[in-house]
Parts: sequence; C-alpha cells; structure tokens
Amino acid sequence: MSAPRYARVDDAFVTALEAEIGAECVSRAPEALERHARDESDGLYFPPELVVQPRATEQVQALLRLCSERRVPVTPAGGRTGLSGGALCVHGGVALSLARMDRIVEIDERNFFCVVEAGVVTERLQEAVEARGLFYPPDPASRGSCTIGGNIAENAGGPRAVKYGVTADWVRGLACVLADGTLLRTGGKLRKDVTGYDLTHLIVGSEGTLAVVTRAWLRLTTRPTAFRTALVPFASAEAAVALVPAIAHAGLDPAAIEFMERAALEAACAQLGVRVGHDEAQAYLLIELDGTDEARLDREIERLGELCLERGALDVWLALEPGRRRELWALRRAMGEAVKRLSAYREEDTVVPRARLAEALAAVGRITARHGVRAITYGHAGDGNIHVNVLQGELDPERWATVSRTVSREIFEAIVALGGTITGEHGVGCVQKDNLPIALSRASLALQRRLKTAFDPGWILNPGKLFDPE
Ligand code: LAC
Ligand code: ZN
Repeated sequence: MSAPRYARVDDAFVTALEAEIGAECVSRAPEALERHARDESDGLYFPPELVVQPRATEQVQALLRLCSERRVPVTPAGGRTGLSGGALCVHGGVALSLARMDRIVEIDERNFFCVVEAGVVTERLQEAVEARGLFYPPDPASRGSCTIGGNIAENAGGPRAVKYGVTADWVRGLACVLADGTLLRTGGKLRKDVTGYDLTHLIVGSEGTLAVVTRAWLRLTTRPTAFRTALVPFASAEAAVALVPAIAHAGLDPAAIEFMERAALEAACAQLGVRVGHDEAQAYLLIELDGTDEARLDREIERLGELCLERGALDVWLALEPGRRRELWALRRAMGEAVKRLSAYREEDTVVPRARLAEALAAVGRITARHGVRAITYGHAGDGNIHVNVLQGELDPERWATVSRTVSREIFEAIVALGGTITGEHGVGCVQKDNLPIALSRASLALQRRLKTAFDPGWILNPGKLFDPE
C-alpha cells in the first residue's frame, strides 16, 4: 500500500459535518486549533484544521463516516498529557476531543465494576470510586488532567503498576467507533472472557489508530486504607536498583517501587520549593506498601527497612505523617515537569527485565558520556521501566538534533540487547516511530500493518503514529 493522500478540511466538509452533528460541536476558532496543537511531548506543534467535540457516540459515528468517505484524517484527543505526540494531528485534519463525553455512567459496587465515558479525568474517577470504598489503581503522574480514554489509548502505567498492573489489566470491555463509523462493543462486566479474539486488548494501547474508544467497562478492587511509605537513599544508582528483585524475593509486594537519581529529586525539590535529600546519596527508591491491615503493614515495613539496610541503603526515611507521604508523592509527580524545565530534552521510556536495571543504567551512562550529553533518570523501577531524559544542555540546536537521535538509537539498541523494549507506558506515537524496528521484527511490523488496514482501510485514524503504510 502506498502512502495515503488525505483531503483537507474545506467549507463543504464543515457544512456537511455541521448538518450531521450540529455546529455547536465543531470549531475552527484559532484558540481551539492552538489548544489542540500541543501535548506534553517536547517541541511538537501540529495544529489541526478543525476541532470536533461531540457529546454522544452517534456524533462520533457520523464524524468518522464522513471522514472515511472524504479521506480526512481524525486524531482522537483526551487530556493531551501524552509524551509521544499521540494526540497530535501530524497530518492535519480533525482533532476529535472526547472531553465532553465525561460521564461516569455507573459504579456497580456489587460487581466491582464501573462504566465510564472516555473523557472522564482519571483522578475524578479515582475519587468517585474511592468515596464508595472501591479502588481504580492505574495512576499516571498526569492523573489530574489525563483521561480514561487517553489512558486506554496509551495503556498508561504509573507507579502502582508494580502491584496492580497497567490500564489494560483493568479494562474488561469497550464501546468504540471504527473508522467507517460502525459501533463496536467488546467484553463487559466480566472477569473472564475468551469468546473470540481479544479485541478489547488489541484496542487498548493502539494509540487511537484502530478505533475511537467512547466508553469503557473497568474492573475495580477494594480501596487500600493503610500505607507505609519510605524514601531510601543509596550511594549509587546500581545499589538502588539491585534492591528491586530482592524485595520480591523477600515476599514483599509494594504498591510502588520508584527510582530517582539524585538530580531528578533535586529538580523536583527545586520546583516545589522543598528540601529533601541525603548528602551522600546518588539515587533513591520511593517505596510504598499498601493494604487494609495496619499490623501487617508494620511488620512488612520493618522487614523492608531491614532489607534496605542489609543491602547498603544509607538510611530509611519513613513518611510517618500523611502530610509527609503526600509531599513525597507530590515530588514524584512533579518530577517529569521539573526535569523538563532544566533544558530541552528527549525522553526515552525504557523497559528491561527488572534484574537487569543496573546494566541498563550503566549502558545509558556509557552512551551519554561518549556523546558528551547528560541524562537524568527516574521511573518505575519495580517494573524495570526507567524514563531516561537526555538533556540538550549547551549543545547548539543543529548538533542536538543529530546527537539526540543517535543517543536515543544507541540507548534503545542497548536496552533491546538486554531483553528490553523501547516504551513501557508513553507509547510510540510520532516520537519513537523511527525507532520501532529496533524493537519489533519485520514479521511483527508487517502483521501490525495488516491489522491496521483491516480496522482502518483508508488509514484515516491517527495517521503518522506507530508506523506508516509500507
Ligand atoms: C512519570 C511519567 C513521566 O513517570 O511517566 O512521571
Ligand atoms: Zn512514568
């Protein structure tokens, strides 16, 4: 298949669309186009030609029908907090904002399920279910502004994935609109379901390239009410990450094992204006145990503390006050933003088998040193998932353009050689598209292209992401 040619959004298209779904949902206002031109990825700017903000699934169907007929590209957008350009209209066309479809349709306490529209902000859902003693664990750093639809598109992770899994582990059913406007329902309030291919989980993580998710059936669990949180300083990053497999071997099951190198914590402290840190520490783990049984957590945190000290931790700081725990998590959540403010950067969302984290960090150190750049690393050590932020620093833009690309490629090659992969939770989007062949075989890519064509023969859904047609 050759590269598809897309139509522009012209007056005839807008008139036809407005006749179908109403002018109230359609905007060409410069502010609306501008707002949808960026997400949280560094340095990307792609204004759409039109912003469409439907209130109902039927309007999404009508839009996609028209876009398929006229070959106008459509890019679904949630909270635009993505880090791989997933919500950006790199081929122009329509930005399809699901923001107005933000109803929590049902919280079903008896079945431990909820049904939500795609535009629900993740934190709002968390609060709503927690108020009823229930828990929706996926917890990306951007939870205050990202949406369930965006989380599903990217299969978002976050700190609690080490115990609770990623978004996909909680999605049991979808309503979504296919490229030609057909409504597809998958799964439901079901804990088990092997009826046919698992379309739900093919669509979760497909970055808006296969279908537009409008509603989701999400599994819930009971809300943890007790927490033990520790910040643990180490003299080296290697010592810190070596603890990760040891924690599992000790039979402990923390809700989070976050890694941050010294510079990452310092950046977050500077951003929030707080002072936390150990003079000799080069790295930290932020570890949290959760549950409902206080006595059990006391025993576990004691065991965890001992283990850290046996394995060379410089200290173990327990966050005994709820305020202290909140502060540590605020620092952790601010880290991405804080590191970003230091310099233009390229973020690599590496994943390795977790016993190989020390080797991965060593490889990053070698590669960045060889190219004369600096990287700041932090992330979800419990999942082997480290965000490597390569900073532009003093490099001039031209040199940075070449060096950053080479450094990314070399880091990814090293990561894949360790049995890892090139993104764990941020997605491929347009940012890592060129690096995809480092991680995926030709056979895999060829099959993925065929799947894409089966779902979306005109390649109108979020074009320019993941891969292009052959
Ligand atoms: C985080 C985002 C960047 O872990 O994934 O803070
Ligand atoms: Zn992360």
